[in-house]
Formats: sequence, structure tokens, C-alpha cells
Amino acid sequence: MEMKSKKFLLPEGDIPKAWYNIAADMKTKPRPMLNPATKEPLAAEDLFPIFAEELSRQEVNQTDRFIEIPEQVREMYRNYRCTPLVRAYGLEKALGTPAHIYFKNESVSPVGSHKLNSALAQAYYHKKEGNTNLTTETGAGQWGAALSYATQAFGLELAVYMVKISYQQKPYRRSIMQTFGAQVIASPSMSTKAGRKILTEQPNHMGSLGTAVSEAIELAMQTPGCKYALGSVMNHVALHQTVIGLEAEKQMELAGEYPDVVIACFGGGSNFGGIAYPFLRHNLSGEKNTRFIAAEPASCPKLTRGVLAYDFGDEAGFTPLLPMYTLGHDFAPAHIHAGGLRYHGAGTVVSQLLSDGLIEAVDVQQLEAFDAAVLFARTEGIIPAPESSHAIAATINEALKAKEEGKAKTILFNLSGHGLIDMTAYDSYLSGDLTNFELSDETIRQNISGLDLIA
Ligand SMILES: Cc1ncc(COP(=O)(O)O)c(C=O)c1O
Repeated sequence: MEMKSKKFLLPEGDIPKAWYNIAADMKTKPRPMLNPATKEPLAAEDLFPIFAEELSRQEVNQTDRFIEIPEQVREMYRNYRCTPLVRAYGLEKALGTPAHIYFKNESVSPVGSHKLNSALAQAYYHKKEGNTNLTTETGAGQWGAALSYATQAFGLELAVYMVKISYQQKPYRRSIMQTFGAQVIASPSMSTKAGRKILTEQPNHMGSLGTAVSEAIELAMQTPGCKYALGSVMNHVALHQTVIGLEAEKQMELAGEYPDVVIACFGGGSNFGGIAYPFLRHNLSGEKNTRFIAAEPASCPKLTRGVLAYDFGDEAGFTPLLPMYTLGHDFAPAHIHAGGLRYHGAGTVVSQLLSDGLIEAVDVQQLEAFDAAVLFARTEGIIPAPESSHAIAATINEALKAKEEGKAKTILFNLSGHGLIDMTAYDSYLSGDLTNFELSDETIRQNISGLDLIA
């Protein structure tokens, strides 16, 4: 009997040579970022004090469809790319679904998640432009781990503000960052004005990504030769992640299929954009009609319950004003274990796509995410990151719908990371201690009141 293929693999020569910039193909372009003081649109140069110059240019680029990947970055990608596309036969069987489920396995990167795809690119440009130090924030620790490795590889120093709750829940991610040579600080901390202000008002504050971003930007602005790097939200980060979708497109061809639905979990939008945009370009050109689903946590539902408004990317208000789906920059999300999804806003490109009805969003409760994670672990042998489990839960829902409808849909989801360093979360699920979090309309209303809404 002929064995059906489980994995679809590409040789190193097929690592993409360029990233795909969806903004060039969008009919309605994302609105510009604004200077908070003057409310004037910002140009790339306005971002130079914080970000690398080339990254700033990528951020506002709405004309070049493809942006060349520097050879040194491709060289580093060879350490783990191309990542496998896998058919989830085990999960399909357990669900008894006629759907064909595929996942792109980004958990095979040396640091365990997709975050390395952008970390390597960012470290490369900073080194090239003569910067010596970087600061960043990290939620679950996946981005911090990726940037620690990438800065080490390109000879830069790194300070990471790690959300305090994750610092405590995920001590081994801290050790990973330190192993790669980074300095790790629990945020909020006493080392910055932004941190001191929060700790003075709320001494037991357990941190949020928005706060950690403020601290990292403050340190970068005060230190010569030091810039700031962000692991999500910004357009240039999702741009770098498009290697995921570009590879997956070729691999789906090898499998002889094309996805009806593409799904990814959603923090600020980088892994979602990474897998979705290369396929979405065929919707934009009118050739295909794929659905794209962003799966966010019910406790931090900026896409499903937030508003489109101009808001800050960080708690202290150091960033430009971004046109984004947001819950308000001082929204304090519940302490779910998917630390990387606890962010109040969505990137500007992804926000425009949602507002234009080109993508969809669903929210997933914490227990549903872990039910999905455990089923996936038992059927496919990979323990997923709590963040990625949101994509798995949404995939399971789509596969069960296909079963009800008797349709053999093709579903592709992104396995953004593994959860082998998130076992405290699994412990708490398995011992029945994990809970859902309900978020009232009133709390949302309070947080978004005062925002500058976009009609
Ligand atoms: C494994 C994993 N998946 C997803 C995310 C969410 O980020 P993004 O929406 O930028 O992909 C994170 C963020 O830390 C993560 O660690």
C-alpha cells in the first residue's frame, strides 16, 4: 500500500529570496501613523530615533510588492528553514472530519517559535547601521528568546523587559535569554520612569506588554548607540514573517491542495500576517476566495470587541499614534497563560484588512485553547505553545463545521511555537486549576472611552 505523505518539505534553496509586502497590493491603504503632538502623518525618518532606518522604511513602504531578504539573513534562515508543512492526519481522525488539516510547523526554529524570522532580520539591519545595543519587551518570552539569539549571532548587546507575570511563570525562558547573553529585567521595574510610575501607583502590578514596551523604548531613547526592537504589531515584523506563507504556498502545491481557510493565533498580528498575506494576495487579485481567521483570546479581544481608533502602542504613550483595532492602551488583560496574546492592539495593516472585511476574527477562551492543545499533543505528538493553541481551537471548530456540512474543506493553520517551556500552564490545566476569564462590556467601554475613533 502506498503511504500517504505526512510532511511536505522544501530544500534550503527554496528559502524565499524576498518578503511579501501586502500593503503594495491593498486597494485601501492602511492609514498613516500620526505624530501624537501635531497629529501630522509620520514619514519613515520620524521613526529613525527609535527603530533601525531600513526597518522604518519597510514600515511605511506601500509600493514595493517584494522586498529582498539580505543574503546574511537568508544564511541564518538556513539553520532551520524551510520549516515543514505537515498534514494532521491524527487530529483529523480524532475529530472524524472530512476536512484536510495542514499545519506549518514554525516550532522547529532553534528557539521554538516563528519569532526568529523577524529577530534575525532586525538584528541584521541594526548591526549594519552601526548600532551596538538593543532593547525590547517580551510577553511569554518567545520574542525575547528569539532576539537574544539573533543579537548574539550579529554581535549586539540586548536588554529585555519581560512581563513580570511571565518572568515568574516561565523562569526557563528567562534562562534561555540569559544563556544567549541577554540581560533580562522583570517589568514593571524601577529602572525606568515609566516602570517607577506604575509601581508607585500599583505596587503589585504584574506587568503587560504595553508597559514593557514603554520601559524598553525609554531605555533605548536614553542610551547612545541603542535602539528598540519590537516582536509584533509593526508592519515590518509581519513583513519578515511572510517567509512562512510563501513557503507554505509552495508546500501546499506539493500536497496538491490549496487552502479554503487559513488560521493563525493573534497577538499583534505577526504570525497571522506571516501565514495569511501570501495567500491573501491571491484574494486581492481576484483569483481565489480563501477565508482568513485570526484567533485571539477572549480575555484580550481587540479584533472581535475592540474599536478602530488612533491609539498608542504602549502604556506610557511613547509610540506614534497607530490606526488600530484596540482595547485602549492602558487595558490590563487577565493573566492568561498565552502571554504573547496579551496585547491591547493590532497592527495597522491587519486592522485595515479587518475593517475592509478581507479577514475574520474569532475569540477563544483559555480552557477551550488548552482542550485543543491537549488533543493536538495526543494526536500529533507536539505540545503546542499556549498562544498557538488558540489557532488549533479555531481549526478544530472549522473542521467540526466541515463535518456537520459534510464538506472536505482544506484548512491550513500556523503552529507558531511549541509549549515545552510552558509546562506550568499545562500543569495548571491538568490539575483543573485553569479558569476562563469573562470580560464585561462595561470594562471594555471604560477602556475605549476617550479614544480617537476612526469612522
Ligand atoms: C508562540 C507564539 N505565537 C504567537 C504569538 C503572538 O504574536 P504575533 O501575533 O505577533 O504572532 C507569540 C507572541 O509572543 C508567541 O510567542
